[in-house]
Amino acid sequence: MDLAHLWPPSALRVVSGDLELRYADDPTVESLARMAATEGVHPADFMPFMTPWTVGTPEDVARSVLRWHWKQRAELTPERWQLELATWVDGRLVGTQGAVAKDYAITRTAETGSWLGLPHHGQGIGTRMRLVILHLLFDELDAQVATTGAFADNQPSLGVTRKLGYEPNGESIAVRGGGPAPERWFRLTRERWLARPDEQRLDVSYEGTPALREFLGIARP
Ligand SMILES: CC(C)(COP(=O)(O)OP(=O)(O)OC[C@H]1O[C@@H](n2cnc3c(N)ncnc32)[C@H](O)[C@@H]1OP(=O)(O)O)[C@@H](O)C(=O)NCCC(=O)NCCS
Repeated sequence: MDLAHLWPPSALRVVSGDLELRYADDPTVESLARMAATEGVHPADFMPFMTPWTVGTPEDVARSVLRWHWKQRAELTPERWQLELATWVDGRLVGTQGAVAKDYAITRTAETGSWLGLPHHGQGIGTRMRLVILHLLFDELDAQVATTGAFADNQPSLGVTRKLGYEPNGESIAVRGGGPAPERWFRLTRERWLARPDEQRLDVSYEGTPALREFLGIARP
């Protein structure tokens, strides 16, 4: 009874060229924590997150990353799961790409979220890792809808979304730093996914998805 058998998400690997999404094990989570604390995740004058976990001492930031990952791992069930995958490019850890879902086996709907270490921004990695997790969701986990959202002033995140064929799905007002912050929401249907342009059809290989499906109760349609 190895870990892959007991906890199938731990064996998940999704590879496209030099970019890989992989389950964040303890050494990886520790590296992510250190990365967020030392390299930063966004410019100091801009807050992209609803929960401002990037504010505080380096120890505060690192502990927030540890706590978040451990919590998501521990609370992962078929009814409510959050896969927080680590993103590697050419063997180098650069950030995380996740997807969260509630009652996915029935709704077939998941919301994505991500961050990169600041030195890795603006090089197309955010677009590639979103596209790779969309391949995982639609092609391996039979998603019907993928959703995403960002503050209206988060241009890089909105830029990624804009490029990948989502349609607008409303707006809301969140509280950020004690003030109102408009958020924009988007959805990508399976129909739109299947109609995407050729350059967004990646060659992707997967490890661990049959066992993951079984673990999450995702029956073949
Ligand atoms: C969001 C994030 C993952 C995007 O990753 P990235 O690698 O920087 O993004 P990419 O380089 O793939 O693409 C960003 C796109 O937005 C565009 N963009 C960036 N800044 C922009 C601006 N100020 N105005 C308009 N477009 C902008 C880029 O030009 C690019 O589009 P293009 O390829 O057509 O030129 C990354 O910036 C990040 O980690 N940010 C901090 C955390 C965060 O915001 N997470 C999401 C929370 S909702």
